[in-house]
Amino acid sequence: MNELKISPKGRVAFVSGANRGIGRAVTIELLEAGAKKVYAGVRNLKSLDDLKPEYGERLVPVMLDLKNDKTIIKASRQVKDVEILINNAGVYEAGGFFSDETLDSLSDNFEVNVWGLVKLSTSLIDHLMNKPFAAIVNVASVLGLASMPVAGTYSASKAAVHSITQGMRGELMNTNILVMGVYPGPIETDMTRNLDMDKDSPQNVAKDIVKALKMGNEYVFPDMMSKQVGELYLTEPIAVEKQFANFISAEEEA
Ligand SMILES: NC(=O)c1ccc[n+]([C@@H]2O[C@H](COP(=O)([O-])OP(=O)(O)OC[C@H]3O[C@@H](n4cnc5c(N)ncnc54)[C@H](OP(=O)(O)O)[C@@H]3O)[C@@H](O)[C@H]2O)c1
Repeated sequence: MNELKISPKGRVAFVSGANRGIGRAVTIELLEAGAKKVYAGVRNLKSLDDLKPEYGERLVPVMLDLKNDKTIIKASRQVKDVEILINNAGVYEAGGFFSDETLDSLSDNFEVNVWGLVKLSTSLIDHLMNKPFAAIVNVASVLGLASMPVAGTYSASKAAVHSITQGMRGELMNTNILVMGVYPGPIETDMTRNLDMDKDSPQNVAKDIVKALKMGNEYVFPDMMSKQVGELYLTEPIAVEKQFANFISAEEEA
């Protein structure tokens, strides 16, 4: 295993989906931790204008639409000095495996959460490889460790992110690159607007990611629910699967 501690202080980071939710919180946290520059991957270059007075030229918006290969290629030419890649951008399309919408929902979730993440990572890998120290941080989900039936196709995309993270870590073992997987539970963002349950804040997730970079941690369970799930998953993965399935039945009965 790598033993790399990648403090963001003085370093250059790239955050995908930086304009809102967890990505915005991570962008701010990296800047607060002393990052030299944060490239903010966004689909609207003006969406972080409100942060400009505070962070000035250290915050650099970069056009990035993970469904548009041209923007990925163009962004990769723009961010050659990147040292920390935060693969955060994602979508949540609800749906299970036995409906008319299954294939569309599977495809929408995979296009951004999986293909987008892989395309961006492969486009930036040479930049990361040629730095003394670097990191790839993939924002997965607890739903990548076990499937929640109402979110089956999303869970499958996040399980792919989990596996991709392991694969990247294996391939990059004994290199200069730390590979981290982040497995949040429910977090208060637009993505969970319609979810009526206790949620943690994106700021706490961001703080845990920055802390984990400094400590060189490869797995991050950033909130109360994910800490519990993470612990159970390590000892009894099937119990997590049953718990998630029961959670949905309980919700349906309510
Ligand atoms: N919230 C949770 O409970 C939770 C739990 C576990 C994991 N996660 C994961 O955490 C990450 C961030 O989620 P969030 O909760 O912060 O969601 P969010 O508030 O909905 O933000 C999603 C971000 O992804 C960007 N994005 C979506 N499609 C994109 C595309 N095609 N190209 C580039 N950027 C795109 C969005 O940009 P636009 O504004 O342009 O759409 C936005 O910045 C996701 O990977 C999500 O799966 C979230």
